Amino acid sequence: MEATIVPKVQKHYPVLLKEIISVISPQHGGTFIDCTFGQGGYTKKILEFKNTNVIALDRDIESAKIANQLKENFEDRYIFKNIKFSQLNNLKLKNENIRGVIFDLGYSYTQIKDPQKGLSFDAGGKLNMQLGLNSYSAEDAINKLNEKELEKIFKFFGDEKEGKYIARNIIKERLKNKIDTKSLVEIIDKSKRRKNFKVHNATKVFQALRIFVNKEISELIFGLINAAKVLKKDGILAVVTFHSLEDKIVKYFFKSLSEKKSISRYVPVTEQAENLFKLIEKKAIIPSDQEINENLPSRSAKLRYVKKKIDFYDFETDILNQFKKLIEIENFGDKL
Ligand SMILES: C[S@@+](CC[C@H](N)C(=O)[O-])C[C@H]1O[C@@H](n2cnc3c(N)ncnc32)[C@H](O)[C@@H]1O
Repeated sequence: MEATIVPKVQKHYPVLLKEIISVISPQHGGTFIDCTFGQGGYTKKILEFKNTNVIALDRDIESAKIANQLKENFEDRYIFKNIKFSQLNNLKLKNENIRGVIFDLGYSYTQIKDPQKGLSFDAGGKLNMQLGLNSYSAEDAINKLNEKELEKIFKFFGDEKEGKYIARNIIKERLKNKIDTKSLVEIIDKSKRRKNFKVHNATKVFQALRIFVNKEISELIFGLINAAKVLKKDGILAVVTFHSLEDKIVKYFFKSLSEKKSISRYVPVTEQAENLFKLIEKKAIIPSDQEINENLPSRSAKLRYVKKKIDFYDFETDILNQFKKLIEIENFGDKL
């Protein structure tokens, strides 16, 4: 699991860049959707290839500044939209030849360094965690949700075994004072009976809160469904994940739509029914030792990809049902 601490590296590195480029093959041209523009690492590299166009998205308005600088060089081949990738089906695409849709999940070096974003427990920031276009903060969640809801968030999104005690102590403490980053870390420290000397005690709770505040599970699921819709036949859907929950969702989506079954309610289930995807490599691609040495946070990255086999826009998937429980937990936020 990725620790939510400010990494020792001093600049932004696009993770698995060489591997992403090799998988999506921009040398053949076409339009690519970079769903997580960030610092523009992937987008810039794709635009180096002639005959490519990029539609870049990011929920963080800060990305727009870098995106605008890039416009000076590639104005006619590139657009940036400050939207969440779950909305990518709302892009007004005019029959563009979408050859690839890529996701590099999570947050960037710049975001974790920003105390206003409050993603880290050691950057002296506020208890925020909103990446952009959110409806509530981590402070709202910690100070307003009930004990059972907090316990579930810590357990399911952070795999925190001692979430029950942490949630109980949060409820006790907030009767006296509003909880901020510092007091939350103190409560976690006090509540944990099993100390782990390799990772900070607050790592799991902070990851859980970030997933909850940004609705990362529903974002990923709707992002994948909509990416699969807009891709053209033979286009590549590629996703870089950073923790096991994300990887589980991506793996399930790719595997379930690569196995023999009907891909649409309009196509009968027969032996001949085509699958939506071809799973090209069963195993995830991981960073080389050299990349991990240069950029330690890349160590938990996993790249998975599939090729779309049919030009279908609509298809059936049971992924929402499969991860229903997690979506229900994210929906605790609806009342905040
Ligand atoms: C790891 S960074 C991407 C870095 C990028 N590949 C690069 O090379 O610079 C992840 C980015 O995804 C954005 N992001 C996360 N969730 C998102 C979502 N649901 N919709 C749109 N952008 C999102 C974050 O704001 C962040 O800028």
